[in-house]
Amino acid sequence: MKNRLPPCAHVPAPYTGPAKAEVLALRQRHCNPAIFTYYREPLMIVEGYMQYLFDEKDRRYLDLFAGIVTVSCGHSHPRVLARAREQLERLQHTTTIYLHPLLGEFARQLAGKLPPGLDVVYFVNSGSEANDLALTMARLYTGHHDIIALRNGYHGGTSAMMGVTALHTWKYPLPQGQGVHHAVCPDPYRSPYAGTPEEIARQSVTDLEEIICCSTPGRIAAFIAESIQGVGGVTTAHPDYFRLAYELVRQHGGLCIADEVQTGFGRTGDHYWGFENFGVVPDLVTMAKGIGNGAPLAAVVTRREIAQTLAQRLHFNTFGGNPVSMAQGLAVLEVIETERLQENARLVGGHFKQGLEGLQATHPLIGDVRGQGLMLGVELVLDRQTKEPAPSQTAWLWEYAREQGVLTGKGGLHGNVLRLKPPMCLTREDVDFALEVFDEGLRELERQAPG
Ligand SMILES: Cc1ncc(COP(=O)(O)O)c(C=O)c1O
Repeated sequence: MKNRLPPCAHVPAPYTGPAKAEVLALRQRHCNPAIFTYYREPLMIVEGYMQYLFDEKDRRYLDLFAGIVTVSCGHSHPRVLARAREQLERLQHTTTIYLHPLLGEFARQLAGKLPPGLDVVYFVNSGSEANDLALTMARLYTGHHDIIALRNGYHGGTSAMMGVTALHTWKYPLPQGQGVHHAVCPDPYRSPYAGTPEEIARQSVTDLEEIICCSTPGRIAAFIAESIQGVGGVTTAHPDYFRLAYELVRQHGGLCIADEVQTGFGRTGDHYWGFENFGVVPDLVTMAKGIGNGAPLAAVVTRREIAQTLAQRLHFNTFGGNPVSMAQGLAVLEVIETERLQENARLVGGHFKQGLEGLQATHPLIGDVRGQGLMLGVELVLDRQTKEPAPSQTAWLWEYAREQGVLTGKGGLHGNVLRLKPPMCLTREDVDFALEVFDEGLRELERQAPG
C-alpha cells in the first residue's frame, strides 16, 4: 500500500530479527496472558523517530498515541537519547545511598515548574508507584485512611491502585479497595445529572459531599483525580468542579492529589500541568509517562511538611532517582522548553480539535469531541440524542486508521472513544493527514450502514 503520510527524512535500519509470527508465538507461550496487544492483526514496531513508528517491513505509521501518552518529545529524540547514552556509559546505577549531582538538580528543576511550596520530590519508576506513595504520604500526614477517587478514573495497576481505579474493566474482585470511595465523574457528556456543565459540576460536588459526610465522616485522607481522565476516555469537567471539590475536601481535613501522569508536561497546551486549567493547587502531584519520554521514571511532588511524614521509618526505592533516568528527565524538560512543545501542543492541538469538530458537523456518528491541547478524545455514538455508544464502529474506524498508517488509542467506559495523544512534536501536516483518514473512514462506515 502506498504510504500517504507527510514526508519524513528518517530512514529506518533494515530489520533483521525474528519474524512477527515467531515473536507473537513466543509472547503467547511465555508472557502473562494479561499482556494484550492492540489490533486484530497485532502490529510489530521495531523503530521510532519523533512522531513516527516503523514496523519490521519499514512501513511508517503516524503515532497518535505516543506509547500511551508517554513519549512527550518524540520517539528516539536525538537530544534526549544523547543525554541518556552519555550517562549510561559513565554510571548506570548506585541507588540514592550515595550522592549524585543529577538527582537534586532534576528535583530542583521539576519543582521550578510547579506552584510555590510544591518543591519536595520523591522519584520512583511508574505512575502506579507514584500514586501509591502519594496515598501513603496523605494517610501518614492526616492520620486518616479513606480515599475518594472519581468513577471512571485510572490510577494504576498495583493492588492499592487497582482499588482506587474505578473502571470496571480494570477491577478484580479482590478486597483492594478498602476505605476507597468513588464519587460521580463530573464529565458533562455522560453525567447521571442533567443540566449545563456548570450545574453538573455543582451536583457532582454534592455527591462528593455526601460521601465525605456519610461514608467517611472525619476519616478522609485524600481526594485523588486526573484533571482529564485518560484511560476513561478523555473526560473532563467544568472549571468549577475541582475548585469546589478541593475546598470541600480540605474543609474536612483531606489532602488533594492531582494525578498528572497523562496531563502533565505541557500536553494540555495552555498550561504545563492539567490542574492549572482549573485554577487549583494540589497538595501532592503525581507524574510519570511524559516526564521520561520513555524512561521508566515517575515522581511525587509535595510540600515539605507532607513529605516529612515518610522519614519516620525506612522508605527506599532501588531504581528511583537512578542517574540514567535523571539525565533523561532533565533532557526532557530542556527539550519541552527549547522546542516549545507546550506551545506546539496548544497550536497543533487547537488545529486538531477544530478539524475534529468539523468532522463532527458532517458525521452524525461523532457524539462528542473533547479535551485540550494534544490530549483529545472523539466519542462515537449511534444516536446523538440517546448517546448510545458505538463500540463496534469505533473499533472499525480504529482498525481502518491503522491500515491507512494512523495509530490511535481507544478507550472510555464503553470502548467508544478514540484517544488522540501523540508525541508533542506533531505537525499540522500530520493532523491534516489524520483528519483525512478519519473522514474517509467515517464516510465508509456511513456507507455501510446509512443512517
Ligand atoms: C492517569 C494515570 N495514572 C496512573 C497510571 C499508572 O501508571 P503506570 O502504568 O506507569 O504504573 C496511568 C497509566 O496509564 C494513568 O493513565
